[in-house]
Parts: sequence; structure tokens; C-alpha cells
Amino acid sequence: MRLILLGPPGAGKGTQASSIVEKYNIPHISTGDIFRKNIKEGTELGKKAKEYMDKGLLVPDELVVAIVEDRLKEDDCKNGFLLDGFPRTVNQAKSLDKVLEKMNVSLNKVLNIKVDKEILVNRAVGRRICKECGRAYHIEFNPPKESGKCDVCGGQLYQRSDDKEETVAKRIEVYLKETAPLIDYYNNKGILVDINGEQDIKKVFEDIVLALGSEK
Ligand code: AP5
Ligand code: ZN
Repeated sequence: MRLILLGPPGAGKGTQASSIVEKYNIPHISTGDIFRKNIKEGTELGKKAKEYMDKGLLVPDELVVAIVEDRLKEDDCKNGFLLDGFPRTVNQAKSLDKVLEKMNVSLNKVLNIKVDKEILVNRAVGRRICKECGRAYHIEFNPPKESGKCDVCGGQLYQRSDDKEETVAKRIEVYLKETAPLIDYYNNKGILVDINGEQDIKKVFEDIVLALGSEK
């Protein structure tokens, strides 16, 4: 199954991605996670990406597309994948179309997780991430069993540097301008499904599973 998770910052893409890849046994490709890994490892790519991410801006398309293209060529993507946070501009979506055409495959569905702006800021500011496995928690809505520790791997939880209130507001603004046009782009292709992301985490996942139905 070849899927895209679309939605504003804090909509719950990463949270749902964890459950989707587990159920459908496909790799999770998050461009945000790839950049954060590079920042942690101090690579050239990480240094470049950090400048944009800390301001709440998008990393330039040419840096992103090449990374995703390489990743999709790996063996584990043969039977499908879940793209999370990519594409994020119409230009990136067009590049992805070309890559998929070369690979002779097509997308099954684009899941558009919808959440109101007021809720998004709260979600991002209260988010804590596991340093080891990247799983997202929320201090109020999805707290870990033991404070500051990941339930799955015991890793330490931290707050992302772009989850400050003013940076989150900027990221939402950028989303509306650059990424929201993708809703029409994929609607016109007939593969977009809206998911109500304002329900509890389990219910959102149930709706995703229903929307995917018998897709393979
Ligand atoms: P990225 O890492 O992709 O971040 P994002 O899209 O801003 O999305 P988030 O990770 O903030 O939110 P999410 O939807 O995954 O929410 P989560 O599940 O964690 O990108 C970061 C930056 O990298 C960008 O700003 C850009 O600079 C750069 N970048 C990345 N990709 C790029 C690209 N393709 N092109 C250019 N630049 C790119 O949930 C949020 C919180 O809410 C959590 O605490 C969670 O526990 C909680 N929560 C989730 N669901 C629910 C629910 N149903 N009810 C209550 N709480 C919930
Ligand atoms: Zn963990």
C-alpha cells in the first residue's frame, strides 16, 4: 500500500503513522524525522535544514526531493510505504509523481487529517518525543506511563526546538500557504480522503482503517 499522510503541524500525522505502519507492515518515511536525525548527527544536510526548521520555514524543495527519491528506491519500499510530511508543496508533489512513474507504481490514498487551528498549537506545545525511537507523546492528551520516559523503549523524552508557540504559529501559516493547496491537487486525482483528526487517537486510527478498506 502506498500512502501519504497530509495535515497541518500537530494534526497527529506522526502519531497515526506509528499505528499504520505496524498494521500494514510498510516503512514510515517522515522527512521531518530524516532531518532531525541529520541534525542530531551533525551532517551537512542537518546543518542546512536546521536553519529553516528553527524558523518554522520549509526546507528548500531540491534538498527534500532527492532524499525521498533515494529512500523510495530502497528494497523495503517495494511493497509500499507511508510518506509523512512529504510532499509539502505542489512542486514536491509533481516531483513525486515523476519518481513514482519511473518506478511504475501509483499512490493508493492520501489521508488528509483535519484539525482546527486552535487545537493544533496546544498539541504541538505539549508534545514530547522519544530521543531513541521518535514516538510522540503529549503531556496532557497522551502522557507516557512513567513521566519523561518512552513506554516502548524507555528512551528519554524531549521537546522539539520548533515546538515553541511562536514557531508553531509560523509553521501553521506556512502550511496554509504552501501545503494546503495539495488538498485540491490530490482531490482532483480522486485519491484524497478526509479524516476527522479532532477525535481521540484510537478513533482517528479506526477511521483511517475504515478509509483504507481493502486497499493492498
Ligand atoms: P515535521 O516533522 O513533518 O512536522 P509537522 O508536519 O510540522 O508535523 P508535526 O510533527 O509537528 O505534527 P504531527 O502531525 O506529526 O503530529 P503528532 O502526531 O506529533 O516537519 C518539521 C519541519 O521539517 C518543517 O517545519 C520543515 O521545516 C521541515 N520539513 C519536513 N518535511 C519537509 C518537506 N517535505 N519539505 C520541506 N521542509 C520539510 O501529534 C502532535 C501532538 O498531539 C503529540 O503530542 C500527540 O501526542 C498529540 N496528539 C496526536 N493525535 C492526537 C489526538 N487525536 N488527540 C489528542 N492529542 C493528539
Ligand atoms: Zn522510544
